[in-house]
Amino acid sequence: MQISLLQLISAALLALAANAEVYLNEQFLDGDAWRSRWVNSEHKSDYGQFKLTAGNFYGDAEKDKGLQTSQDARFYATSVRFEPFSNEGKTLVIQFTVKHEQKIDCGGGYVKVFPADLNQADMHGDSQYYIMFGPDICGYSTKKVHVIFNYKGQNHLIKKDIKCKDDELTHLYTLILNPDQTYEVKIDNEKVESGSLEEDWDFLPPKKIKDPEAKKPEDWDDRAKIDDETDTKPEDWDKPENIPDPDAKKPEDWDEDMDGEWEPAMIPNPEYKGEWKPKQIDNPNYKGAWVHPEIDNPEHVPDDQIYKFDNIGVLGLDLWQVKSGTIFDNFFISDDVKEAEEFGNETWGATKGPEKKMKEEQEEKKRKEEEEKNKEQNTEAADEEEEDEGEEEEEEDETEEPQEDEGDEDVLQKDEL
Ligand SMILES: *[C@@H]1O[C@H](CO)[C@@H](O)[C@H](O)[C@H]1NC(C)=O
Repeated sequence: MQISLLQLISAALLALAANAEVYLNEQFLDGDAWRSRWVNSEHKSDYGQFKLTAGNFYGDAEKDKGLQTSQDARFYATSVRFEPFSNEGKTLVIQFTVKHEQKIDCGGGYVKVFPADLNQADMHGDSQYYIMFGPDICGYSTKKVHVIFNYKGQNHLIKKDIKCKDDELTHLYTLILNPDQTYEVKIDNEKVESGSLEEDWDFLPPKKIKDPEAKKPEDWDDRAKIDDETDTKPEDWDKPENIPDPDAKKPEDWDEDMDGEWEPAMIPNPEYKGEWKPKQIDNPNYKGAWVHPEIDNPEHVPDDQIYKFDNIGVLGLDLWQVKSGTIFDNFFISDDVKEAEEFGNETWGATKGPEKKMKEEQEEKKRKEEEEKNKEQNTEAADEEEEDEGEEEEEEDETEEPQEDEGDEDVLQKDEL
């Protein structure tokens, strides 16, 4: 009996897949049942309502159903619970799709991942979370992907600027957090940013600080140029800044009794050279700029567990949206990068093409309809125009005539004077 290489490979792949932990997989494929899994916060009384829909255009009418924000200028707060876990020693992947089909002007498109002890019914903007991840758009200035980690009770924002998608199509956002304290952000299954937690966030106090003991020596000369001591001011340097205008003449009808003593106007002196300054020469004692020596910061205590969250158990949408219509779908939390990528391929990857096509067809249809409407209006307008044309010419003559009249009037008035 022979086992083919292909069989071996698929067996290995199956084993790999079987090892992957999937903590959350929410695709909204079971009708209204999501309402029993998701808990709306009651912290405020006027949160916006989510509804289940695939939106105005989609790749698959059923599979593309997700949670859509349905009321403008509202806060939204809902969350879903899963079996709590720790990501200690494991990779953590957080992934979901966002579709701003409404041409969003200002609103969040991110998720928050909370500790399992979150009181979901009271979830609000200040509820402590572990991770906040995803796109945020407001006007032209804010179009970024947030990656915020809570470390020892403090939220830390990524220092890098990651641009988010701002079109109306569905996009896949993935955050990968590794136990070696590296991370990666993917959009549409393509890496857009990566690096290390220590470098791209300020979790810890800096490694080095300026030595508080070190002081610039008193005799440290950091002047690159100095006055040339041998340079002296020329004797004829000082001239008045303004002089009486030599061309000024006393007016013939000047009456000293009436007008006072006549004085010529002052003008800038062409010979005036300003303040004298000695020439500058290189300073022979120049030592360069003093650099403050640095020492190891005693406050910097390395931590190889910044990435670790002990009790991950809730994923929430805690948002503000001005123009509603965003659809969230395909929430996926796992410890396996490949598994998440494959899930992304099977969901977003499978429907993105047909979704784009449907949107383009709708736009084409709308364009054609508008073209038809314009054509009808144009033919109507053209008929009217033909009738109008004669009148317009007359109108033009009329506007010129009054101008000529005005001219005549001016002449008349002058004559009268
Ligand atoms: C996902 O799809 C891309 C593009 O088709 C492909 O290159 C990649 O191998 C797929 N990933 C997985 C895990 O199937």
